[in-house]
This record gives sequence, C-alpha cells and structure tokens, in this order.
Amino acid sequence: MTPEYMRSEKKLDYKNKIILSDNLSILTQIDNEIFDLIITSPPYFQQRDYGNGDLGIGNETTETEYLENLLKIFAECVRVLKKTGTIVFNLGDKYINGNLSLIPYKFAIQATQNQNIFLINQIIWSKLNPTPRQDKRKLIQATEPFFIFAKSKDYYFNLDNYLQHLDIFNKSIKSKPSEKLGGKYLELIKNSDLTEEQKRNAIKALNEAILAVHNGEIEGFRMKIHGVHKLAYGGQDGGRNNQIKNNGFTIIKILGNRMKKDIIESPVEITKNNHHPAVYPIYIIQELIKLLTQEGDFVLDPFCGSGTTCIAARNLNRNYLGIEINSDYVNLANNRMQEPEFKQQELFI
Ligand SMILES: C[S@@+](CC[C@H](N)C(=O)[O-])C[C@H]1O[C@@H](n2cnc3c(N)ncnc32)[C@H](O)[C@@H]1O
Repeated sequence: MTPEYMRSEKKLDYKNKIILSDNLSILTQIDNEIFDLIITSPPYFQQRDYGNGDLGIGNETTETEYLENLLKIFAECVRVLKKTGTIVFNLGDKYINGNLSLIPYKFAIQATQNQNIFLINQIIWSKLNPTPRQDKRKLIQATEPFFIFAKSKDYYFNLDNYLQHLDIFNKSIKSKPSEKLGGKYLELIKNSDLTEEQKRNAIKALNEAILAVHNGEIEGFRMKIHGVHKLAYGGQDGGRNNQIKNNGFTIIKILGNRMKKDIIESPVEITKNNHHPAVYPIYIIQELIKLLTQEGDFVLDPFCGSGTTCIAARNLNRNYLGIEINSDYVNLANNRMQEPEFKQQELFI
C-alpha cells in the first residue's frame, strides 16, 4: 500500500516523524537547507543483511559501489543541511581477506573531495565492551569513528554543553588548595635572572593567581619563568613566548573544565526491548546533539534504525525526522519513543 505521505497532495510534513521509506526518495523531496544537524550510522559494508533488498545500503558487491551509493545519500544530506549545520556519520571498519579496509576513512576522504563540505573532527568512540574475537593474531577492534562535517566556517558548536556532566563532576571533587600553593614558584622567581622590577611583577601576578585558586575562580595555574622553564612550542614566537621574553614570566590559568578531546568512551548498547542488531549509544548521540544544536533545532537521521537519534533529539527538546527502510525497525523505533526518558547522568556520574 502507498504510504500516506506519498498519497497526500500537500507538501511533505516531516517534523517529528519516523517515516518508512528508503532515504533517497524522501530526501529528494525536501527543500534545501532545512536541518541543523544530520546524525546517522549507515549500514557498514557487507556487515549484515537488514533484509531491505536493492534499495538498502550495505550489501553491494564491491567497496566502490557501496561508497558510491553512500556518497549519493551524503550529497543529499549536504543539500538539505543549513549553512550553520553539521553532519555526523558513524561508520565501522571491516577486514577483507585479513586486510583492514579503512572504509570509513575512504568515505571521509571522498566526501570532502566531492562535496562542498569540510571535516572538523573525527571523534573516536572507544567501546568499553567490544565484541571479543577468536583471532589470536589481531587486537580486538574497540573503536569506531564519528566524522563531523561542516558546511561553512559559521557552524554551530557549543563546547560548554558537551560532556557537561563531567565538568560538574570534576568541580564537585575539587579538594581544598594546599597552603604551600605557589611556594615553589616564589623560590624560582627569587633565584631567577629576572630584573628587580620583573621579579616584583611576577610575585604580584603569582599572588593574584593563588588568591583566584583560593576563591574558587580558577582550578589551578602554571607559571613559566625566563631562564628557568623551557619556552612553549619549541621557542617559536607566540603570545606566551612573547610574554616570557618581554615580562620575564607568564601565568597559564587552568579553568577546571575537563579538556574536551576527540575521544568518547561508552559501552556498546545492549538494551532489552531492542532487537535491532546495530544500535549506537544514546549517550554519545545526546552529547553530540548538545554540542551541535540548540533547543528547537531540527535533527535528521536518514538511517534511523531503532530510532536512537530521534529519542535523543526528543529528550533534548529538538525536532527530529527519522527515515528507515525496514518496517520492523520503524515499529521498534516508534515503540521505543514511548519508553520513559533515558537518564544518562545516573549512569555516568
Ligand atoms: C546501522 S543501522 C542504524 C541503527 C541506528 N543508529 C540505531 O541506533 O538503531 C542502519 C539502518 O539503516 C537502514 N537502511 C539501510 N538502507 C537504507 C535506506 N536506503 N534508507 C533508509 N534506511 C536504510 C537499515 O535497515 C538499518 O536499520
């Protein structure tokens, strides 16, 4: 039977829906520059048969054919993405005749060559519970990339909202500063070859930094003193090195937030009530949605599977559209949408 959205004369209404279709047929009906974020995990090359026939991605006979099909869909994703938007593709690798094929990277290289888009990060998902393997002559594959592509330099990126619960945790375990804080630097300044005036200024700056730590304004600091510490960046000119050369010292304040690195740890989702074989962790998806969108924004997952992206978007008050070719998974996704909200902080703090 023809689905309702195809029978309707009206324009496709796709906000907060999970649509049963192959993604290209829907994407080609959508206007340019609609979505703020497209986040998805396409089927990996020859990994499993989702039973979707010729329109399903993943079971092409050659890598080239697979990449061509995927890049066609990616091109549509680029078209329907807003200028300030980002696209996140999660792909897994595969051994072919004992050789690691690096397909995710081949995809990323071709995507950035063929499309008007650039790669801003490759986040590595480090799996806490990877699948054990029988092969005793290879290490267990425990990582997968999430590529973040942007359409313009003006892309939305809210670093403060990413992994915010770890910042809160970091601050909550902060211990009282030591009474001896800064004592070592004071000695080094006194015994340094700085001029008397430079020494006075350095001691004043040191005392201000110590006070800021005691007042909880910063978590800590490091000091570099001329003739005592190595220059940064191999001594090349730059803000800090110029300060050391001109003033005799520099102070680097540590604000106390965790460094936001391009690696994220999470177990592989093993959820009862979800029989989809390749679910990605809602924890990672929620963090990326917080990093890359604001409330009310519009998130698309063109390979929606069991609906993880849509659930994450809904939980965070973003609009969503999921497209999935397999009716069994569309039903599963709709059922999961009815379940109580997933509370990530209870799991990770
Ligand atoms: C790796 S799974 C996505 C799983 C999803 N991230 C989750 O957490 O449940 C890829 C999905 O893409 C679907 N699919 C494959 N080809 C498709 C196409 N051309 N259009 C829409 N969906 C497709 C498959 O049926 C499968 O459910």
